[in-house]
Amino acid sequence: MAANSSDKLIIFDTTLRDGEQSPGASMTKEEKIRIARQLERLRVDVIEAGFAASSQGDFEAIRAIAGLIKDSTVCSLSRANDRDISRAAEALAPAARKRIHTFIATSPLHMEKKLRMSPEQVLEQAKQAVRFARQFTDDVEFSPEDGSRSDMDFLCRVLETVIAEGATTINFADTVGYGVPELYGNMLKTLRERIPNSDKAIWSVHCHNDLGMAVANSLAGVMIGGARQVECTINGLGERAGNTALEEVVMAVRTRRDYFNLDVGIDTTQIVSTSKLVSQITGFVVQPNKSVVGANAFAHASGIHQDGVLKARDTYEIMRAEDVGWSANKIVLGKLSGRNAFKQRLQELGIQLDSEAEVNAAFSRFKDLADRKAEIFDEDIMALVADEQQSRESEHYRFVSLAQHSETGEQPVSKVVFSIDGKEIASEGQGNGPVDATVNAIEARVASGAELLLFSVNAITTGTQSQGEVTMRLSKSGRIVNGVGADPDIVVASAKAYLSALNKLHSEVEKLNPQL
Ligand code: KIV
Ligand code: ZN
Repeated sequence: MAANSSDKLIIFDTTLRDGEQSPGASMTKEEKIRIARQLERLRVDVIEAGFAASSQGDFEAIRAIAGLIKDSTVCSLSRANDRDISRAAEALAPAARKRIHTFIATSPLHMEKKLRMSPEQVLEQAKQAVRFARQFTDDVEFSPEDGSRSDMDFLCRVLETVIAEGATTINFADTVGYGVPELYGNMLKTLRERIPNSDKAIWSVHCHNDLGMAVANSLAGVMIGGARQVECTINGLGERAGNTALEEVVMAVRTRRDYFNLDVGIDTTQIVSTSKLVSQITGFVVQPNKSVVGANAFAHASGIHQDGVLKARDTYEIMRAEDVGWSANKIVLGKLSGRNAFKQRLQELGIQLDSEAEVNAAFSRFKDLADRKAEIFDEDIMALVADEQQSRESEHYRFVSLAQHSETGEQPVSKVVFSIDGKEIASEGQGNGPVDATVNAIEARVASGAELLLFSVNAITTGTQSQGEVTMRLSKSGRIVNGVGADPDIVVASAKAYLSALNKLHSEVEKLNPQL
């Protein structure tokens, strides 16, 4: 049977690689592991865990994920050279199922201006790269970068060659989001028709969202072009305007099965918790009107709609909220809940803590929160576990306590106690508001020299009792990092977020950007 006549659509998640390339979205090894575990629970077919040759940190994260993940294929990106491919193979060695994904640009613009290589040199390098990668695994993916702006005849030659060398997946990249659904789908169709050995590979789509058409282009690639793999990210995270959003593709294919007639293996009930985890870790807040995972995606405000939904849900709802994992802010625990109830809820939420000591630490944070907040929701538990894990991972700066005074007509003052490498220090600052005073207090001792690019506050649940989740994005010497902190007191959450961002800057993880 031709590879593309299968009715299964492979979901290839690249949140941990392309998603991580968003400015400020870089993640620690532990954060990547947490997301990878959740992606496995979501049942994605392939997890692109990173780009092994880009940094030692990414190499180690991929290696750890390869050792932990059993049900999904684990993949590493690599440029089309022996060194990158060897690093990818080494990082993937422990994987039950592994894939090497190699790429080189094929558009005239990229070849001439970026690579400074002739088309013949690019063709030869692509061929050698796939041949080399096949020594390590039978599962090799090749991407012609900037494929959608490449010359059709040249693309046919390159892709025919790499398939002959053993590439099993061909990923037609719309690197700069230039595609238009009909044109992009038809380009893919032409490639498959013109390349004599096209049936030996699975065809894949990889679209960026610069013109807001990533999902539409991907689905056109599937329906017109015959692609059977979609590359996507949670919440559409990714370079510039992002990538194809996994949740949108999956729910489009599921909801309109009458049209697509394709199966996806995703456990859709895990979609919302995956979205929240990615948002929490990266600090990229999901807009309320975002399809499927936005807070308003299933909210009906107008009287006519509410009336219709109460009479018959399908009058205005094409999907069920519970099918994508919305639990409607269920109150789960409170002040009187014991350790066992807490532990059980962690299990139900799919949160895996590695030791009893970690459960105890999280439980003690829970008790502390329950003293200040009567109703504890799933979202609160996820935030406090993330907070606890974050503070364990990045010990350099650690929040201890805060006292703050604000009064109309007076300049706010903050006294912050935090530790640097375990040594507690107290610092005082003034500012034009309580958050500004707090950041000034921290900076009075740290003098990081970082520039604050973004400060955002988001209520984790509903009501004024909600915890505030704060994101602070800092930039220094060309590096951009996001720090996230949660607390019912948004000034405390801000201090935690600021220290978390400073910790990331302190860790000095350098990455190569594959698009450069
Ligand atoms: O957008 C792109 O071209 C990529 C490739 C590395 C597949 O991310
Ligand atoms: Zn990309």
